[in-house]
Amino acid sequence: MDSFLPLLTLLCLKDFCDGVLITQWPKYIASLPGSSVEMHCYQNDTNYDYKYWYRQIKGEIVLVGSYIVTSSSNEKGFENGFEVSSTEKKKWTLKVNVKEGIDAVYLCAASLHSE
Ligand SMILES: *[C@@H]1O[C@H](CO)[C@@H](O)[C@H](O)[C@H]1NC(C)=O
Repeated sequence: MDSFLPLLTLLCLKDFCDGVLITQWPKYIASLPGSSVEMHCYQNDTNYDYKYWYRQIKGEIVLVGSYIVTSSSNEKGFENGFEVSSTEKKKWTLKVNVKEGIDAVYLCAASLHSE
């Protein structure tokens, strides 16, 4: 039942980060609906307070949620099934409840200030 197997594809955003090194893993996740998956980003050389997760589908990139200083928030449309967390300052995580149609490229970003 291949059509029931969403593929979450992750892509490193480090080349877009203007000199900031961000390491993202894993590169790919394949998981069945009903499970949950986690993906991580790590800012190797910085300690930025503004940490983001984006989702790209068909070239369109939208913000899923953020972790700013000490609290996470989800954007409209991503209230359910998406959870941003950050247990250590340099690292942040997106947990996604896998369901059909959720396959996408997920990207992260970090910044010193808002936007
Ligand atoms: C950046 O940090 C990650 C996570 O600790 C590590 O796996 C990676 O090797 C580091 N990259 C560099 C270039 O130091």
